Order: sequence, then structure tokens, then C-alpha cells
Amino acid sequence: KMIYVLNGPNLNLLGLREPEVYGSETLDDIAAMLEDRAGELGLEIDLRQSNHEGHLIDWLHEAQGAGAKAVLLNAGAYTHTSIALYDAIRAINVPVIEVHLSNPATREDFRHVSWVGRAAQASVSGLGAGSYMAALEAAAKL
Ligand code: DQA
Repeated sequence: KMIYVLNGPNLNLLGLREPEVYGSETLDDIAAMLEDRAGELGLEIDLRQSNHEGHLIDWLHEAQGAGAKAVLLNAGAYTHTSIALYDAIRAINVPVIEVHLSNPATREDFRHVSWVGRAAQASVSGLGAGSYMAALEAAAKL
């Protein structure tokens, strides 16, 4: 069973980007950790990153078409702006788990709205790379 792990803008810079906020792991490091654990759980990971909102929407639709078991979605700053992502999450039957490395609720006011969170089944924030790992454990049990 396939788990899509979709990552939005600026997450290609993980490891370099504000490591005091987002940690020192790169997205490749996170992919490797997820793949190891997914193997133990009998799951497969398809991890992608794009800086373009429409790609994330296309991939949510694709997850549905491909019969994915779940989507882990870190939409980056589109989390806080994108009604199109909100609509896309609601448009598919695949469960979506919102993921953030940092805890947006403890940061700037403009991060306190989450359109993704308003459509997602669940949210995991503030655990660094561990947010993805916790979301994978949850997805395995869905
Ligand atoms: C983030 C939190 C967002 O507010 C921010 O825009 C990001 C990363 C996180 O993983 O903590 O790009 O989604």
C-alpha cells in the first residue's frame, strides 16, 4: 500500500533553511527514515516536493486515482493561504494527514490559520522530522 508524502514550497531547502526552526535533516534524510519504517510496516512511500501550488493539487488528485492509502501533506506556507488545497483535500476520499516540522501555533500570527488543517483528517506539528514519522505511524493504522 502506497503512502504519498507531499511537500510544498521551500522544503527542498530543508537542512539549510533556518535549521534552528526546521532542524538539520534534509528532505532526503526524511525520505530515507520514512522508507525504512514504511518497509517494516509493509507500506511504500512516494515522497515528492514542489514549489508550485498546482503540482500539489495534481498530486492529491493522483493519490486518489492511484488508490493511495493516505497522504502526508506538508504544504509549507500554502497551508496558510490555499483554499484550492482545502478544496482538493475535500475532493478526494484518501485520508490526508497535515504535517509540519515546526509548530505553527507558536509562531507568527499569519501561521495560525491552516486551510489544510481544516480539511485534513489529522495534524502533526512541532516534532521536526518526527512529525513525519508520527504521521506515518498514524497512517499505517488508518
Ligand atoms: C512548515 C510551517 C509553515 O508555516 C512554513 O511556511 C513552512 C514549513 C513546517 O513544516 O513547519 O514552510 O510547514
